[in-house]
Amino acid sequence: MTKATDTIEIRRPDDWHLHVRDGRAMQDVIVHTAAQFARAIIMPNLKPPVVSAQDAIAYRQRILAALPKEGVASQFQPLMTLYLTDNTPADEVARAKEAGVIGFKLYPAGATTNSDAGVTDIRRCDAVLAQMEKLDVPLLVHGEVTHSEIDVFDREAIFIEKILEPLRQRHPGLRIVFEHITTKQAVEYVRDADTQRFAKIAATVTPQHLLYNRNSIFSGGLRTHYYCLPVLKREEHRQAIVNIVASGNSRFFLGTDSAPHPKGAKESACGCAGCYTAWHAMSLYAEVFEQAGALDKLEGFASIYGPEFYGLPLNQGTLKLRRQTIQIPAEFPFGDEVVVPLRAGETTQWALVE
Ligand code: NCD
Ligand code: ZN
Repeated sequence: MTKATDTIEIRRPDDWHLHVRDGRAMQDVIVHTAAQFARAIIMPNLKPPVVSAQDAIAYRQRILAALPKEGVASQFQPLMTLYLTDNTPADEVARAKEAGVIGFKLYPAGATTNSDAGVTDIRRCDAVLAQMEKLDVPLLVHGEVTHSEIDVFDREAIFIEKILEPLRQRHPGLRIVFEHITTKQAVEYVRDADTQRFAKIAATVTPQHLLYNRNSIFSGGLRTHYYCLPVLKREEHRQAIVNIVASGNSRFFLGTDSAPHPKGAKESACGCAGCYTAWHAMSLYAEVFEQAGALDKLEGFASIYGPEFYGLPLNQGTLKLRRQTIQIPAEFPFGDEVVVPLRAGETTQWALVE
């Protein structure tokens, strides 16, 4: 990376965890991602979810058709995932791999937005997981238990102990990405996980979990645009996540989890989980790394460790940011509605150089 005082130039980054939805709303948000990222892993939690190789091929076509016809954004590549269900047939794994699907996403049933079709008991998926292990197809996990009696702030830590560790013991060859980690327990688990006896494990990290703690959800009133799942945690957890990415540990890489919802669905009596960060993602991450005195570690996190984990080539182009205070709009078009970005109406300190 070259760092002049007021510019950052890094290899073109990728987003390893992204929601773009579908239809006209997708068209409005995909351009924000494609302006910064060469590739993104597209989450399969549509309604109904993307469950077969065929579904993934069709969804990829719709995304490609929604891209601008020229410029760097026209080169954007969506990387597809399938939604694991109790009924996923084991032979879907080979079909998925053949279709270029990059992994399967585990949503414990009821864990988050559009997860009703999720897995009720991971042991029901053992045959599929064995096939993924054999064909080296990664499992991307939403790492939270869902029992209503478990405190919402403890769900990730308990998932590690009750689900993730036993899963790795049963399937030692399975490559796993612990998505959007939010706790020091997750940081320590992934950092210290043995990869001699087990296949690789990695974690993605969102901008909101690096920038904010749970006070942000309640500051001066209930702030629904800071509500995502897994929910923001205490400051000590935020610090643990910042410290690990600032250390340049290659098991931790960028996944925005940008998750757009119509403004009305967020600002409601039962507001949806999800923060919209696609428009300013790289600016937010740059802010975190600069505050941590680790701008030299931004490129590994954003552009190198992800492709290395997934066994994909590094991108060729570059991305430039310039130090400049920019106003984050109050909202963006989102199909027939609007979406409110994270930190709407406030500022961010790095501008994209087109
Ligand atoms: C995501 C969404 O809205 O699709 N929401 C979120 O809070 N992150 C689902 C998810 O990734 O959990
Ligand atoms: Zn997500």
